[in-house]
Amino acid sequence: MSVPPTYLDKVRRPIAEANGLPNAHYIDPAIFEQEREALMFRQWAGLGVAADVPEAGDAKPITFLGMPLLLVRGRDDVVRVFQNICRHRGMILVEEPRKIEGAIRCPYHSWCYGTDGRLVSTPHVGGPGRNTHDSIDRATLGLIEVRSHIWRDVVWINVSGDAAPFEEVMADVMTRWAEFEQPLYHGGSDSVLTLELKTNWKLAVENYCESYHLPWVHPGLNSYSRLEDHYNIEKPGRYSGQGTEVYRQVTNENGEPFPDFAGISAKWDTAAEYITVYPNVLFGVHRDHAFAIILLPDGPGRTVEHIHLYYAVPKSDSGLRQRNTQLWKTVFEEDIFVVEGMQRGRHATGFDGGRFSPAMDSPTHCFHDWVASQLQRHSTYAGAAE
Ligand code: FES
Ligand SMILES: [Fe+2]
Repeated sequence: MSVPPTYLDKVRRPIAEANGLPNAHYIDPAIFEQEREALMFRQWAGLGVAADVPEAGDAKPITFLGMPLLLVRGRDDVVRVFQNICRHRGMILVEEPRKIEGAIRCPYHSWCYGTDGRLVSTPHVGGPGRNTHDSIDRATLGLIEVRSHIWRDVVWINVSGDAAPFEEVMADVMTRWAEFEQPLYHGGSDSVLTLELKTNWKLAVENYCESYHLPWVHPGLNSYSRLEDHYNIEKPGRYSGQGTEVYRQVTNENGEPFPDFAGISAKWDTAAEYITVYPNVLFGVHRDHAFAIILLPDGPGRTVEHIHLYYAVPKSDSGLRQRNTQLWKTVFEEDIFVVEGMQRGRHATGFDGGRFSPAMDSPTHCFHDWVASQLQRHSTYAGAAE
């Protein structure tokens, strides 16, 4: 597309006049492709977490909007992201998460790569018994690395390679939560949840951003953290979400909570915040635990949510952890019927993108404004390139 559609201007109007994004942005494969480029590949987007590859040599293949990628923790303990393909004939290198013993060996003709991506052997490439050939310069045929950065254990990637530096793009949210800039300990296998949702990934973001639905969708949460205890969080162009002034810690049978993160200010005695860092990472922070949710879109109408919970200490009470995971599981599952219901609603031709509550929906409108601005920006680029 070279000219951005004019309805995007309507989406970007002040909230009292704006419409939401039209149906096509949730159900049309052609628009999904445009959004993949503009909203995911050109941004810093979440791919997975470093805890997915806890030990040196661990490798995990992840398909990111159709693109086969490989998350690897090298023998040097550095986590890298590569395109999961062999430089010879483009075969997929790693099919399942596993530990790499020795090298990453292509199953087709056995070209081998180090866990740092270097091409290290090319058997018989010069003919039987000859493992080199003058035209095959191994130094230039390593795995194709994708630009990546780790923050709050999330592995962020910039597929296009030309986004501004991570710390520059994320400066505001990093400052907002500077107090939590300390070691995070993944709770392990009892602290991971995966939800498969029949919805567009943006509806998962939009629902996460607002507290408006709490009284009806989360009656348990709402019993102690009421609508009026919440505040909106918005940083146009970067992130939005909501916070609560009332956070109640989970405790074990002896009444003991998880230990707190070190040295955080009194505000966090009772507060908690939930933010979507655009495009696809949903964070929660509390005095005693945090979580990260990575949304991996799989076509316009399907999204997989990978949820990871973190604590302030490496060895937390496992019973308490399981209890906390269960509490969050209940909350996240309560949201499924609305994100899936809104998705089905996007097939009603009479829907005009909807109207926002100027008081309650501004974090969602903030996200729509970002989506529209990036699509406008991307179409300007595409126009310039034509
Ligand atoms: S495709 Fe990998 S070695 Fe041939
Ligand atoms: Fe919710």
